[in-house]
Formats: sequence, C-alpha cells, structure tokens
Amino acid sequence: MHSFKELVASFEERFTGSLPFKPAPATLYDPCRYLLQLGGKRVRPVLCLMANELFGEINEDAWYAAFGIELFHNFTLIHDDIMDKAPLRRGNPTIHTKYGLTSGILSGDVMCIYAYDQVANIRQFLPQALRVFNTTAIEVCEGQQLDMDFEQRNDVTIDEYIYMIMLKTSVLLGCSLKMGALTGGGLGDNSNKLYEFGRNLGLAFQLQDDYLDAFGDAEKLGKQNGGDIIANKKTYLLLKSFENASQDQRKQLEELLQSDSEGKVPAMLEMFKATGADVACRDAVAKYSQLAFDCLEDVAIPSKRKEPLMELASYLLMRDK
Ligand code: IPE
Ligand code: IPE
Ligand code: MG
Ligand code: MG
Ligand code: MG
Repeated sequence: MHSFKELVASFEERFTGSLPFKPAPATLYDPCRYLLQLGGKRVRPVLCLMANELFGEINEDAWYAAFGIELFHNFTLIHDDIMDKAPLRRGNPTIHTKYGLTSGILSGDVMCIYAYDQVANIRQFLPQALRVFNTTAIEVCEGQQLDMDFEQRNDVTIDEYIYMIMLKTSVLLGCSLKMGALTGGGLGDNSNKLYEFGRNLGLAFQLQDDYLDAFGDAEKLGKQNGGDIIANKKTYLLLKSFENASQDQRKQLEELLQSDSEGKVPAMLEMFKATGADVACRDAVAKYSQLAFDCLEDVAIPSKRKEPLMELASYLLMRDK
C-alpha cells in the first residue's frame, strides 16, 4: 500500500514526464503546459490510484484513468475561471488573463480531448470506465450551469445548493474512485460504495472550498479571496446566513447582494460571522466527512487496506489550500 504523499510523488513524476501536448501551435499548447506545471493537490488521480490498489497492485489502466481524470479536472478549471472571471489560479494569472479568452476556450477544449485520449488507452473494462467518465462529465457541465444560473437567483435553497455541488464537484471524486476500482477488477457493490464515499467526500470538499474562498489565506490558496462574494455565488455560507438572519440582517444581506462597492467582501464576511454561517459551514463539512467515512467502512475490504483513503480524507478535512 502507498501513502498519499508517495502516490502524489509517483503521479507527479509520471504525469509531468509524459504530457501529451505537441510543441506547435504553441499558442494552443503553451497555456495547457502552463497550467499543468503549476501543480495542484492531485486529489482525484490519487483517489483513483488508491481505489485501484485496494484490489491489487496498481496497474497501467489505473494510470491511464488517473491521467485522464487529472486532465479533465484541469480542463474544467480553465473554463471555470473564465465563467467565474477569476484572476488567479494556483498563485498565478489564470489562462484567460494571461493568454486571452479565445486561448482559454480552445486550450480547455483540447485538454478535454486529451483527457479522453488517455482514457481510451484503458485495456480492460473500457466500456464500463468510459460510461462512468461520460456520465460524470455531463453531470459536471450540468452542475457548472446551475452554479451560473444560481448567481442570478435569490431564492436558491440549501437542498438545491447541495444538488448543484454534487454535480459540479462531488461526482468527479466518486468517478475517480470508481474508475480506479473498475480498472482493478473491483466491479459491483464495492465500486458503488467507493463511489458513494467519493460523493460525500466531494460535498465536504466543495463546502470547504466555499469556506476557504471566504475565510482562507489567499496566499496559500493561490486564488482571489472573496471571489464567490463578488460574483454573488449562492454558497452554503450565503444561504445559511440568510436562513439565520434577523429581519434587519436580511435587509443588509439583500443590500450587499446589490452592491459592487469595495467594502462588499469584508461586510459580507462580517455578516457570515454575525449570523453563525461560518460555524454552520464548518459543521456541514464535518457532517459530510463523517458520512464519507461511514461509506468507506461499508466497503468490503480489510480496514488496513483502506488506511491511505482515510488519510487522504482526513487531509482534505484539515486542508487550507
Ligand atoms: C478546485 O479543485 C475546484 C473545485 C472543485 C473546488 P482543487 O482544489 O482540487 O484544485 P487543485 O487541482 O488542487 O488546484
Ligand atoms: C469549481 O467550483 C468546480 C469545477 C471546476 C467543476 P469553484 O468555482 O468553486 O472552484 P474554484 O474555487 O474556482 O477552484
Ligand atoms: Mg471558480
Ligand atoms: Mg465556479
Ligand atoms: Mg471555489
């Protein structure tokens, strides 16, 4: 069994050593190389490798799946940053800021195709793996569209929010685990339970992402602070703040949503704290993490073998970037 740290290191070595992008046209491929060499936590490919290792030694098919998943994830980030008008990613200018909007669109497109090209290398259980990958990719698009739609709405419920983050974020964590299991021959119940583990872990992960967007250290995160507040994203923090607000506070929240003044972010952060939305968000992270751990316990594999996955889940719960 390998630890999170070991698998991140192995992944970095193989992945960065074999990026599929050609030298030309540089205007298409340089932005791809640029984003990928900025790193990232590599959570999804490592989940895939760990799930694969539950069923035996990590095999080549799992590596193809892991490459495909990480490329797909990075593709979603390129387009997400355009949609969210984000200036920074991994501590550096976003692709559309550095290379322009059309580069962002097309480099994202080509990265998505290369993701599929990696998945196409899988030799065993390819139809099953591809089906999970396709279903997930479609769901991510649905979740991203709902996220954008919600910016314009002021009646989003917490249930709708949870459904949206399940689509935009959780399913890819579930998919990573399931593809790892499938390529290891882990079909049936175990792969479904691993998927459920990933789905709950993903909910905790996105709740934490929303929390960090508001209260995290921008330097560590490498992203703009308060980006969600500026974009009027309907995050758990905002929805809980509305739910807990007094009549007076509700009025202030409504005014803040209309505002685009400099003071919007600090004032909103104060409201999140005054209404206890910050604590509620941390509680929700803990709740979905616990659900994730429960699902992992249900996977019919000796506990010892599941330790790396538990380690990774605990790391995500404590993360500050
Ligand atoms: C960012 O994902 C997008 C979300 C789903 C919140 P990560 O936080 O995993 O990004 P990197 O790959 O580590 O930069
Ligand atoms: C992004 O959610 C989800 C996907 C990329 C599919 P966010 O918009 O919250 O991610 P960050 O905060 O920009 O990384
Ligand atoms: Mg974003
Ligand atoms: Mg987004
Ligand atoms: Mg975010």
